Amino acid sequence: MTERVAIVTGGTRGIGAAISELLAADGTHVAAVYAGNHAAARELADRLAAAAGSVSVHPGDVGDPEFCRALAAGLVAERGRVDYLVNNAGLLIENSVRKMTAGQWGDALRVNLSAPFHLAQAVLAPMTEQGFGRIVNVGSVTAAMGNPVEAGYAAAKAGLLGLTRSLARAVARKGITVNLVVPGVFETGMTSSMRPDAQEAIRAMIPLGRRGDPRELAHAVRFLLADEAGYITGSVVTVDGGLSMGA
Ligand SMILES: NC(=O)c1ccc[n+]([C@@H]2O[C@H](COP(=O)([O-])OP(=O)(O)OC[C@H]3O[C@@H](n4cnc5c(N)ncnc54)[C@H](OP(=O)(O)O)[C@@H]3O)[C@@H](O)[C@H]2O)c1
Repeated sequence: MTERVAIVTGGTRGIGAAISELLAADGTHVAAVYAGNHAAARELADRLAAAAGSVSVHPGDVGDPEFCRALAAGLVAERGRVDYLVNNAGLLIENSVRKMTAGQWGDALRVNLSAPFHLAQAVLAPMTEQGFGRIVNVGSVTAAMGNPVEAGYAAAKAGLLGLTRSLARAVARKGITVNLVVPGVFETGMTSSMRPDAQEAIRAMIPLGRRGDPRELAHAVRFLLADEAGYITGSVVTVDGGLSMGA
C-alpha cells in the first residue's frame, strides 16, 4: 500500500509527540509541526528515526494561513498526498476575564480555532482528489466546563465542535471524515505550567484519580484515523478519566 502521510500539529511535544510516535510506528510518514522549540523537534525526529520511522519536522505558525497552505502543498509535492490531519497544536493563555488583553484573546482564538480551519482548508484539495482523508481536531474539556482564567482558550475549544461538524458535513461525500477528541488533563508541559493548587484541584475531580498519559489520547486519535473508522464522522470522543461526568 502507498505510504500514508500525516500532518500532526504540535507534533513534537506532549500529546502531539505521542501521536507522532504511534503513527510513525504504523509506517505513516509524520510531518510534525511546531512553533519554535527546536530542541524538542530534534529530539522527536531522532527518536522516531532511530525506530525506523519516517518523519519530517516543520517549524512555523499554524495560525498563519500562508504557512498552512505552503505546508500542505510541500507535502503533496514531496510525498504525493496528505491522508491525515491532526489539529493538535494548542496555546493555553491564563488570565482573568477582567485582565485578559485583546492580544491574548486573539492569540487564543488564532492558534486553537483559526489554525485548524486554515489547515483543514489547505488539505481538502488533496484529500478530495484522493477520495480519502481523516481530520481529527483536539479540543478540551474546558470547552464544556469553563474556566474563569481561560476564557479565550475555552471559547476557542468550544468553537472546534461547530467547526468539526460543519467540516464533517461539507466533506461527508468525499471519503473524508472529521472528528473531535476531547482530552481531560494529561501529563504534558501545558499542564505542568498551571499553578500547583489548580493542578491538585483538577486531579481531585478526576474519577480515575490521575492525569492521563499522552499515549492514551494518541490511541483514541489513531482509532479515528483508521480505515475501519470510515463510518464515524462529526463525532466527539472524550478521553478524560471521567472528569466531565462531574463530581
Ligand atoms: N495537556 C492537557 O492536559 C490538555 C488538556 C486538554 C486539552 N489539551 C489539548 O491537547 C493539545 C496538546 O496539548 P499538550 O499539552 O500536548 O501541549 P504542549 O505540551 O503545550 O505542546 C504544544 C505544542 O503545540 C505547538 N504549538 C503551539 N503554538 C503553535 C503555533 N502557533 N504553531 C505551531 N505549533 C504550535 C508547540 O510547539 P513548540 O514545542 O515549538 O512550542 C508544541 O509542539 C492542545 O490542543 C491542548 O489544548 C491538552
